[in-house]
Formats: sequence, structure tokens, C-alpha cells
Amino acid sequence: MEPNIRIEQALTSALDEATDRSTPPGLAAALRHAVFAGGARVRPRLCLSVAMACGEDAPPLSDAAGVAIEFLHCASLVHDDLPCFDDAALRRGQPSVHKAYGERLAVLAGDTLIVLAFGVLARHVPGAPQRSGELLSLLAAAAGTPHGIAAGQAWECEERVPVSAYHRAKTGALFAAATVAGAIACGAPSAPWRLLGERLGEAYQVADDLRDVIGEAEKLGKPVGQDQAHDRPSAVAALGVDGAKGRLDRLVSEAMHSVPACPGREQLCAGILQEMHRVLPCKLSLVAA
Ligand code: IPE
Ligand code: IPE
Ligand code: MG
Ligand code: MG
Repeated sequence: MEPNIRIEQALTSALDEATDRSTPPGLAAALRHAVFAGGARVRPRLCLSVAMACGEDAPPLSDAAGVAIEFLHCASLVHDDLPCFDDAALRRGQPSVHKAYGERLAVLAGDTLIVLAFGVLARHVPGAPQRSGELLSLLAAAAGTPHGIAAGQAWECEERVPVSAYHRAKTGALFAAATVAGAIACGAPSAPWRLLGERLGEAYQVADDLRDVIGEAEKLGKPVGQDQAHDRPSAVAALGVDGAKGRLDRLVSEAMHSVPACPGREQLCAGILQEMHRVLPCKLSLVAA
């Protein structure tokens, strides 16, 4: 089955299972809005691509890993848009969750998605205890501290932070979890996959920082000019537009050189390049490794 279809089906059934008729209707609606308002699904696609390149042998487990990663990502966006963080009214071209359902349900929807991410993986423990255990601790680290999303967002509350440490935690951690999870889900050696995810994640956030300055809200489906408005550390503030483009170029090229040897390497490299070109705000000089 085509990966995008696999991802949407897996997300739909995971959320259906978690929200039956006894769920408070407002929470159920906020959860659907958080997950199905039109995300690009970059992270679960990366996870499945790695699993397929490594010779996937347990598709339900890689689907579960992809769902868990996307749930964590959606939760991070719901919380990130709240008035106490970036105070963003628009997300994925629609009202952000707190605008549509209120702050209390947005906080709860974000919390619920984090819990559901682990629940989805925990369901596979009886059939695949070792792989599931590794996936659970991988995602706990990617979501928490000292190097996960929570830590990354918390750096915004400090006086000073090196921009790349901030990027690595708030965005790189989940990309690294996506590549590593793809390998774990099919029983392949997973450590060599971390560097690729870290570099892609950092590149993705540098691209996001650039789009925040040179992009358009209508096309992006979210507000621009936010980093300056909230005085956030950003690649553009640290390096300027041209400097950030140069860094992005280098990061993507380094990412391509860090794709580990695997049976489907060529196809994986082509897919990653295509993915990066789709989201990048500028032309890159990179070539496939
Ligand atoms: C947005 O991520 C947050 C960043 C880390 C830049 P995406 O650009 O993947 O957002 P969606 O899921 O497609 O909305
Ligand atoms: C978001 O970073 C990263 C998260 C962990 C949510 P940003 O605040 O730069 O992302 P956008 O621009 O709101 O999507
Ligand atoms: Mg933010
Ligand atoms: Mg934001």
C-alpha cells in the first residue's frame, strides 16, 4: 500500500479506537482537528521509508511507530500555538485548536495525543516485546528532557540558548526518532540511523525559520514573522537570510551523506531529496550522495 494511504489509515484507526461515543464530544472533536487538519506527515513518512529501505518485516509495528510519532508532533503543534507559547491563530490553513475549541480543550487534546502515542505502541508489546520496548523509550526521550521536544520548547524560557541546540531538541529529536524508529520496527541495527534524522530535523527547522521570514502565510497555512515578534532564537536571526540558506544547504548535503548502507538506499535517498525540495524555501546546490 502507498505510504501516505497507510499513514492516514493508521492515524484514523488509532484515533477511532481512542475516541468512542463515551468520549467528551469537545475533546473528540479537538483531537480530530489536531490530527486531520492537513499536516504534511513528513515524520511518519520518513519512519516508513527507513523501515522499507531496511527490509520491513512487521508493517503493523512500523505503522504504530509512525502514528506515535505523528501524534507527538501534532501534540507539540497544539501546545506550541497556545497563547502562552506562540499565540498562533492559524495552523495548517485552519484555526488553531485553541481558537476552534478553547484553551482548556487544546491543552487536554495535546496531553491526550502524547498519552495516545505511547498507548498505540504499548499495544504491540505482547507480540514484539523487544522492539516495542525500544520504541517506547526512544519516543519518551524524543518527547521529554534533556534533549527532546519539551526541553526544546523550555529553552525559550531561558535568557540564552545556542540556536542549534534549541533546534536539535525542539525539532531534531523527533526526526531522529523517526529514522531510528523505522530501523527498530524491522529489527535492523538502529544506531546508524540517528545522524540522518538529526541532520534532517535541523535542516527542516532552519527551513522553517527561513519561511517565517521569506514565506507567505496563505501558502504556509500559518502566520509568518513569528520568530521576530516573539524574540525567538532563529537561524535567520543568528546567521541572516543568506547565512541560513548556506547552513540549510550544508545540513541537507550532510544528511544525504549520512544515509546508512541498506538494501533500499538508492530509493530512500531519492525520496528524502524529493521531500526536502518540497519544503525548502530556496534552491539548494545539493546532489544525492
Ligand atoms: C511544523 O512542522 C513545525 C516545525 C518543526 C517546523 P511541519 O511543517 O511538519 O507541520 P505540519 O505537520 O505539516 O503541519
Ligand atoms: C515548533 O517550532 C516546534 C515544535 C516543537 C512545535 P515553531 O514554533 O518554529 O514552529 P511553527 O512555525 O509554529 O510551526
Ligand atoms: Mg514555537
Ligand atoms: Mg510556533
